[in-house]
Amino acid sequence: MKALVLSGGAGTRLRPITHTSAKQLVPVANKAVLFYGLESIAEAGITEVGVIVGDTAEEIQDAVGDGSKFGLQITYIPQDRPLGLAHAVLIARDWLGDDDFVMYLGDNFIVGGISALVEEFGRNRPDAQILLTHVPDPRAFGVAELDGAGQVVGLEEKPEHPKSDLALVGVYLFTPAIHAAVRAIAPSWRGELEITHAIQHLIDARADVRCTVIQGYWKDTGNVDDMLEVNRTVLEALDRRIDGEVDELSETVGRVVVEEGARIINSRIVGPAVIGAGTVVNNSYVGPFTSVAENCRITDSEVEFSIVLRDSSIAGVGRIESSLIGRHAEVTPAQHVPSAHRFVLGDHSKVQIHP
Ligand code: G1P
Repeated sequence: MKALVLSGGAGTRLRPITHTSAKQLVPVANKAVLFYGLESIAEAGITEVGVIVGDTAEEIQDAVGDGSKFGLQITYIPQDRPLGLAHAVLIARDWLGDDDFVMYLGDNFIVGGISALVEEFGRNRPDAQILLTHVPDPRAFGVAELDGAGQVVGLEEKPEHPKSDLALVGVYLFTPAIHAAVRAIAPSWRGELEITHAIQHLIDARADVRCTVIQGYWKDTGNVDDMLEVNRTVLEALDRRIDGEVDELSETVGRVVVEEGARIINSRIVGPAVIGAGTVVNNSYVGPFTSVAENCRITDSEVEFSIVLRDSSIAGVGRIESSLIGRHAEVTPAQHVPSAHRFVLGDHSKVQIHP
Protein backbone atom coordinates (compact mmCIF):
# COMPACT_ATOMS: atom_id res chain seq x y z
CA MET A 1 0.00 0.00 0.00
CA LYS A 2 1.29 3.44 -0.97
CA ALA A 3 0.06 6.95 -0.17
CA LEU A 4 -0.51 9.77 -2.60
CA VAL A 5 -0.57 13.11 -0.78
CA LEU A 6 -1.89 16.15 -2.60
CA SER A 7 -0.13 19.38 -1.76
CA GLY A 8 -0.73 21.58 -4.77
CA GLY A 9 -3.69 23.94 -4.89
CA ALA A 10 -4.01 27.65 -4.26
CA GLY A 11 -5.80 27.87 -0.93
CA THR A 12 -8.07 30.76 -1.83
CA ARG A 13 -10.41 30.00 1.06
CA LEU A 14 -8.00 30.78 3.86
CA ARG A 15 -6.98 34.19 2.56
CA PRO A 16 -5.21 36.28 3.62
CA ILE A 17 -3.14 33.59 5.40
CA THR A 18 -2.61 31.61 2.20
CA HIS A 19 -1.64 34.64 0.07
CA THR A 20 1.88 34.02 1.25
CA SER A 21 1.93 30.40 2.33
CA ALA A 22 0.82 26.98 1.08
CA LYS A 23 -2.52 26.00 2.63
CA GLN A 24 -1.13 22.62 3.65
CA LEU A 25 1.38 24.41 5.87
CA VAL A 26 -1.19 26.38 7.86
CA PRO A 27 -0.42 25.42 11.46
CA VAL A 28 -2.77 23.72 13.87
CA ALA A 29 -1.35 23.88 17.42
CA ASN A 30 1.91 25.11 15.89
CA LYS A 31 2.28 22.18 13.48
CA ALA A 32 1.54 22.25 9.76
CA VAL A 33 -1.75 20.55 8.92
CA LEU A 34 0.13 18.46 6.32
CA PHE A 35 2.43 17.04 9.01
CA TYR A 36 -0.51 15.52 10.88
CA GLY A 37 -1.49 13.77 7.63
CA LEU A 38 2.03 12.45 7.04
CA GLU A 39 2.21 11.23 10.63
CA SER A 40 -1.11 9.39 10.26
CA ILE A 41 0.16 7.73 7.08
CA ALA A 42 3.33 6.59 8.85
CA GLU A 43 1.28 5.37 11.82
CA ALA A 44 -0.86 3.28 9.45
CA GLY A 45 2.32 1.43 8.44
CA ILE A 46 2.72 3.04 5.00
CA THR A 47 6.22 4.17 4.05
CA GLU A 48 6.17 4.95 0.31
CA VAL A 49 4.59 8.34 -0.24
CA GLY A 50 4.19 10.35 -3.43
CA VAL A 51 3.60 14.05 -2.81
CA ILE A 52 1.94 16.00 -5.62
CA VAL A 53 3.21 19.58 -5.65
CA GLY A 54 2.28 22.67 -7.66
CA ASP A 55 3.18 26.38 -7.43
CA THR A 56 4.22 26.05 -3.79
CA ALA A 57 6.53 23.07 -4.46
CA GLU A 58 9.59 24.73 -2.98
CA GLU A 59 7.88 25.66 0.25
CA ILE A 60 6.44 22.15 0.65
CA GLN A 61 9.77 20.48 -0.09
CA ASP A 62 11.59 22.76 2.36
CA ALA A 63 9.14 21.81 5.08
CA VAL A 64 8.85 18.06 4.42
CA GLY A 65 12.27 17.17 2.99
CA ASP A 66 12.89 13.54 2.05
CA GLY A 67 10.32 12.37 4.60
CA SER A 68 12.83 10.67 6.89
CA LYS A 69 11.73 12.75 9.89
CA PHE A 70 8.32 11.09 9.54
CA GLY A 71 9.79 7.65 8.82
CA LEU A 72 8.64 7.97 5.18
CA GLN A 73 10.27 7.77 1.77
CA ILE A 74 8.94 10.66 -0.23
CA THR A 75 8.88 11.09 -3.99
CA TYR A 76 7.77 14.50 -5.27
CA ILE A 77 5.52 14.48 -8.32
CA PRO A 78 5.08 17.91 -9.94
CA GLN A 79 1.69 18.90 -11.30
CA ASP A 80 2.16 21.80 -13.73
CA ARG A 81 -1.32 23.18 -13.26
CA PRO A 82 -4.08 22.45 -10.71
CA LEU A 83 -6.15 20.33 -13.08
CA GLY A 84 -7.94 18.35 -10.41
CA LEU A 85 -7.60 15.46 -7.99
CA ALA A 86 -8.25 12.82 -10.64
CA HIS A 87 -5.57 14.47 -12.78
CA ALA A 88 -3.15 13.98 -9.88
CA VAL A 89 -3.92 10.24 -9.97
CA LEU A 90 -3.35 10.26 -13.76
CA ILE A 91 0.11 11.82 -13.50
CA ALA A 92 1.08 9.55 -10.60
CA ARG A 93 0.14 6.42 -12.58
CA ASP A 94 3.72 5.22 -13.15
CA TRP A 95 4.79 5.87 -9.59
CA LEU A 96 1.70 4.12 -8.18
CA GLY A 97 2.14 1.04 -10.38
CA ASP A 98 -0.37 -1.65 -9.48
CA ASP A 99 -0.40 -0.96 -5.76
CA ASP A 100 -3.41 -0.09 -3.66
CA PHE A 101 -3.11 3.42 -2.28
CA VAL A 102 -4.60 5.95 0.06
CA MET A 103 -5.07 9.37 -1.48
CA TYR A 104 -4.76 12.04 1.20
CA LEU A 105 -5.50 15.71 0.60
CA GLY A 106 -2.81 17.67 2.42
CA ASP A 107 -5.19 20.36 3.71
CA ASN A 108 -7.49 17.86 5.44
CA PHE A 109 -7.30 17.05 9.13
CA ILE A 110 -8.64 13.77 10.53
CA VAL A 111 -8.74 13.47 14.30
CA GLY A 112 -7.59 10.00 15.31
CA GLY A 113 -5.66 9.16 12.14
CA ILE A 114 -6.34 6.55 9.46
CA SER A 115 -4.81 3.31 10.79
CA ALA A 116 -8.15 1.59 11.43
CA LEU A 117 -9.42 2.57 7.97
CA VAL A 118 -6.34 1.34 6.17
CA GLU A 119 -6.57 -1.92 8.06
CA GLU A 120 -10.27 -2.36 7.24
CA PHE A 121 -9.61 -1.61 3.57
CA GLY A 122 -6.81 -4.19 3.47
CA ARG A 123 -9.16 -6.77 5.00
CA ASN A 124 -12.16 -6.22 2.71
CA ARG A 125 -10.45 -4.80 -0.34
CA PRO A 126 -13.43 -3.15 -2.07
CA ASP A 127 -12.59 -1.35 -5.32
CA ALA A 128 -12.70 1.95 -3.46
CA GLN A 129 -13.55 3.25 -0.02
CA ILE A 130 -14.53 6.82 0.74
CA LEU A 131 -14.94 8.71 3.99
CA LEU A 132 -17.92 10.91 4.71
CA THR A 133 -18.77 13.32 7.47
CA HIS A 134 -21.79 15.43 8.41
CA VAL A 135 -21.15 19.13 7.77
CA PRO A 136 -23.37 22.20 8.29
CA ASP A 137 -22.87 23.52 4.74
CA PRO A 138 -22.05 20.76 2.25
CA ARG A 139 -21.93 23.08 -0.78
CA ALA A 140 -18.15 23.54 -0.41
CA PHE A 141 -17.56 19.78 -0.73
CA GLY A 142 -18.30 16.68 -2.75
CA VAL A 143 -21.62 15.37 -1.40
CA ALA A 144 -22.78 11.75 -1.16
CA GLU A 145 -26.26 10.34 -1.46
CA LEU A 146 -26.83 7.02 0.34
CA ASP A 147 -29.63 4.48 -0.06
CA GLY A 148 -31.58 2.97 2.83
CA ALA A 149 -28.88 0.35 3.36
CA GLY A 150 -26.16 2.99 3.70
CA GLN A 151 -24.67 2.29 0.25
CA VAL A 152 -23.42 5.24 -1.81
CA VAL A 153 -25.64 5.68 -4.83
CA GLY A 154 -24.55 9.11 -6.04
CA LEU A 155 -21.82 11.70 -5.62
CA GLU A 156 -21.94 15.33 -6.67
CA GLU A 157 -19.13 17.87 -6.61
CA LYS A 158 -20.04 21.12 -4.81
CA PRO A 159 -23.76 20.93 -5.60
CA GLU A 160 -25.91 24.04 -5.25
CA HIS A 161 -28.71 21.91 -3.80
CA PRO A 162 -27.00 19.11 -1.85
CA LYS A 163 -28.92 15.84 -1.54
CA SER A 164 -27.52 15.22 1.97
CA ASP A 165 -25.23 16.81 4.55
CA LEU A 166 -22.62 14.09 4.03
CA ALA A 167 -19.43 15.64 2.67
CA LEU A 168 -16.63 13.69 1.04
CA VAL A 169 -13.61 13.81 3.30
CA GLY A 170 -10.27 14.22 1.53
CA VAL A 171 -9.03 10.69 2.26
CA TYR A 172 -9.79 7.97 -0.28
CA LEU A 173 -8.69 4.33 -0.46
CA PHE A 174 -8.25 2.89 -3.91
CA THR A 175 -7.30 -0.29 -5.70
CA PRO A 176 -5.85 0.05 -9.22
CA ALA A 177 -9.50 0.03 -10.47
CA ILE A 178 -9.40 3.82 -10.13
CA HIS A 179 -6.91 4.23 -13.00
CA ALA A 180 -9.38 3.32 -15.75
CA ALA A 181 -11.97 5.56 -14.08
CA VAL A 182 -9.77 8.67 -14.04
CA ARG A 183 -9.06 8.11 -17.74
CA ALA A 184 -12.76 7.79 -18.54
CA ILE A 185 -14.04 11.13 -17.19
CA ALA A 186 -14.19 14.63 -18.70
CA PRO A 187 -13.30 17.93 -16.97
CA SER A 188 -15.99 19.53 -14.78
CA TRP A 189 -17.43 23.06 -15.03
CA ARG A 190 -14.40 24.30 -13.06
CA GLY A 191 -12.08 22.74 -15.64
CA GLU A 192 -10.83 20.03 -13.31
CA LEU A 193 -10.80 16.26 -13.51
CA GLU A 194 -12.79 15.53 -10.35
CA ILE A 195 -12.04 12.45 -8.27
CA THR A 196 -15.72 12.64 -7.30
CA HIS A 197 -16.64 11.92 -10.93
CA ALA A 198 -14.12 9.08 -11.18
CA ILE A 199 -15.68 7.44 -8.12
CA GLN A 200 -19.17 7.99 -9.57
CA HIS A 201 -17.88 6.26 -12.69
CA LEU A 202 -16.94 3.24 -10.54
CA ILE A 203 -20.39 3.27 -8.91
CA ASP A 204 -22.09 3.39 -12.34
CA ALA A 205 -19.96 0.41 -13.43
CA ARG A 206 -21.27 -1.45 -10.34
CA ALA A 207 -17.86 -1.59 -8.72
CA ASP A 208 -17.69 -2.15 -4.96
CA VAL A 209 -17.49 1.36 -3.50
CA ARG A 210 -17.92 1.51 0.25
CA CYS A 211 -18.19 4.41 2.64
CA THR A 212 -17.40 5.10 6.25
CA VAL A 213 -18.90 8.02 8.14
CA ILE A 214 -16.39 9.65 10.48
CA GLN A 215 -16.41 12.31 13.21
CA GLY A 216 -13.58 14.69 13.97
CA TYR A 217 -12.82 16.21 10.60
CA TRP A 218 -11.57 19.60 9.55
CA LYS A 219 -10.64 21.29 6.30
CA ASP A 220 -10.15 24.93 5.61
CA THR A 221 -13.27 26.47 4.20
CA GLY A 222 -12.08 29.99 4.91
CA ASN A 223 -13.84 29.91 8.21
CA VAL A 224 -11.67 31.16 11.05
CA ASP A 225 -14.11 29.78 13.64
CA ASP A 226 -13.49 26.28 12.26
CA MET A 227 -9.78 26.81 12.44
CA LEU A 228 -9.93 27.98 16.06
CA GLU A 229 -12.06 24.95 16.79
CA VAL A 230 -9.62 22.42 15.29
CA ASN A 231 -6.80 24.20 17.11
CA ARG A 232 -8.80 23.81 20.33
CA THR A 233 -9.40 20.09 19.70
CA VAL A 234 -5.71 19.40 19.14
CA LEU A 235 -4.64 21.47 22.15
CA GLU A 236 -7.05 19.45 24.32
CA ALA A 237 -4.70 16.49 23.92
CA LEU A 238 -1.53 18.43 24.73
CA ASP A 239 0.97 17.09 27.29
CA ARG A 240 2.60 19.66 29.53
CA ARG A 241 6.23 20.37 28.62
CA ILE A 242 8.31 23.37 29.66
CA ASP A 243 11.55 23.48 27.66
CA GLY A 244 11.88 27.26 27.53
CA GLU A 245 12.54 29.76 30.33
CA VAL A 246 9.83 30.75 32.76
CA ASP A 247 10.97 33.39 35.27
CA GLU A 248 9.99 33.30 38.94
CA LEU A 249 7.36 36.03 38.52
CA SER A 250 5.50 33.94 35.94
CA GLU A 251 3.04 31.11 36.28
CA THR A 252 2.11 28.33 33.85
CA VAL A 253 -1.11 26.51 34.69
CA GLY A 254 -2.10 23.09 33.38
CA ARG A 255 -1.30 21.72 29.94
CA VAL A 256 1.14 24.29 28.68
CA VAL A 257 3.97 23.77 26.21
CA VAL A 258 6.76 26.33 26.26
CA GLU A 259 9.17 25.39 23.48
CA GLU A 260 12.91 25.62 23.86
CA GLY A 261 14.17 29.17 23.40
CA ALA A 262 10.84 30.73 24.39
CA ARG A 263 10.81 33.11 27.37
CA ILE A 264 7.96 33.85 29.74
CA ILE A 265 8.57 36.98 31.79
CA ASN A 266 6.23 38.26 34.51
CA SER A 267 3.31 36.55 32.76
CA ARG A 268 0.59 33.98 33.28
CA ILE A 269 -0.08 31.19 30.79
CA VAL A 270 -3.20 29.09 31.33
CA GLY A 271 -3.39 25.89 29.29
CA PRO A 272 -4.04 24.26 27.05
CA ALA A 273 -1.73 26.59 25.21
CA VAL A 274 1.49 26.37 23.26
CA ILE A 275 4.22 29.00 23.03
CA GLY A 276 6.59 28.50 20.10
CA ALA A 277 10.40 28.56 20.10
CA GLY A 278 11.96 32.00 20.32
CA THR A 279 8.73 33.69 21.39
CA VAL A 280 8.82 36.15 24.28
CA VAL A 281 5.74 36.69 26.43
CA ASN A 282 6.32 39.68 28.70
CA ASN A 283 3.97 41.14 31.29
CA SER A 284 1.04 39.40 29.57
CA TYR A 285 -1.63 36.74 29.91
CA VAL A 286 -2.06 33.89 27.42
CA GLY A 287 -5.31 32.04 28.02
CA PRO A 288 -6.69 28.59 27.12
CA PHE A 289 -6.83 27.27 23.53
CA THR A 290 -4.15 29.58 22.23
CA SER A 291 -1.29 28.67 19.90
CA VAL A 292 1.49 31.22 19.59
CA ALA A 293 3.99 30.22 16.90
CA GLU A 294 7.74 30.85 16.76
CA ASN A 295 9.51 34.18 17.27
CA CYS A 296 6.52 36.23 18.37
CA ARG A 297 6.47 39.03 20.94
CA ILE A 298 3.51 39.39 23.26
CA THR A 299 3.96 42.37 25.55
CA ASP A 300 1.54 44.08 27.97
CA SER A 301 -1.42 42.22 26.39
CA GLU A 302 -3.89 39.37 26.88
CA VAL A 303 -4.54 36.71 24.24
CA GLU A 304 -7.08 33.92 24.56
CA PHE A 305 -8.65 31.30 22.22
CA SER A 306 -6.52 32.51 19.32
CA ILE A 307 -3.86 31.51 16.83
CA VAL A 308 -0.85 33.75 16.36
CA LEU A 309 1.44 32.78 13.49
CA ARG A 310 5.17 33.25 13.52
CA ASP A 311 7.15 36.50 13.74
CA SER A 312 4.18 38.57 14.89
CA SER A 313 4.03 41.07 17.69
CA ILE A 314 1.21 42.15 19.94
CA ALA A 315 2.01 44.98 22.33
CA GLY A 316 -0.02 47.09 24.72
CA VAL A 317 -3.44 46.38 23.26
CA GLY A 318 -5.45 44.91 26.12
CA ARG A 319 -7.38 41.74 25.34
CA ILE A 320 -7.53 39.78 22.08
CA GLU A 321 -9.93 36.85 21.70
CA SER A 322 -11.07 34.43 18.97
CA SER A 323 -8.51 35.80 16.52
CA LEU A 324 -6.24 34.46 13.81
CA ILE A 325 -3.18 36.65 13.40
CA GLY A 326 -0.95 36.04 10.38
CA ARG A 327 2.81 35.98 10.06
CA HIS A 328 4.85 39.14 10.64
CA ALA A 329 1.71 40.97 11.80
CA GLU A 330 1.93 43.85 14.26
CA VAL A 331 -0.83 44.80 16.65
CA THR A 332 -0.10 48.00 18.60
CA PRO A 333 -2.07 50.77 20.30
CA ALA A 334 -3.07 53.88 18.33
CA GLN A 335 -2.02 57.35 19.40
CA HIS A 336 -4.45 59.02 21.79
CA VAL A 337 -5.32 61.93 19.49
CA PRO A 338 -7.16 61.69 17.19
CA SER A 339 -9.12 58.83 18.70
CA ALA A 340 -9.29 56.60 15.62
CA HIS A 341 -8.47 53.09 14.45
CA ARG A 342 -5.53 52.83 12.08
CA PHE A 343 -5.01 49.85 9.76
CA VAL A 344 -2.66 48.44 7.22
CA LEU A 345 -4.66 45.38 6.21
CA GLY A 346 -3.69 42.83 3.57
CA ASP A 347 -6.10 41.77 0.84
CA HIS A 348 -9.03 39.68 2.12
CA SER A 349 -8.34 40.63 5.74
CA LYS A 350 -11.18 40.79 8.24
CA VAL A 351 -11.25 43.07 11.28
CA GLN A 352 -13.83 43.34 14.02
CA ILE A 353 -13.66 46.54 16.06
CA HIS A 354 -15.04 47.06 19.54
CA PRO A 355 -16.35 50.62 19.20
C1 G1P B 1 -11.95 18.41 -2.89
C2 G1P B 1 -12.95 17.45 -3.50
C3 G1P B 1 -14.23 17.43 -2.68
C4 G1P B 1 -13.92 17.09 -1.23
C5 G1P B 1 -12.86 18.06 -0.69
C6 G1P B 1 -12.38 17.63 0.68
O1 G1P B 1 -12.44 19.72 -3.01
O2 G1P B 1 -13.20 17.82 -4.84
O3 G1P B 1 -15.11 16.47 -3.21
O4 G1P B 1 -15.10 17.16 -0.46
O5 G1P B 1 -11.72 18.10 -1.54
O6 G1P B 1 -11.30 18.41 1.10
P1 G1P B 1 -11.45 20.97 -3.33
O7 G1P B 1 -10.54 21.09 -2.15
O8 G1P B 1 -10.74 20.66 -4.58
O9 G1P B 1 -12.36 22.15 -3.46
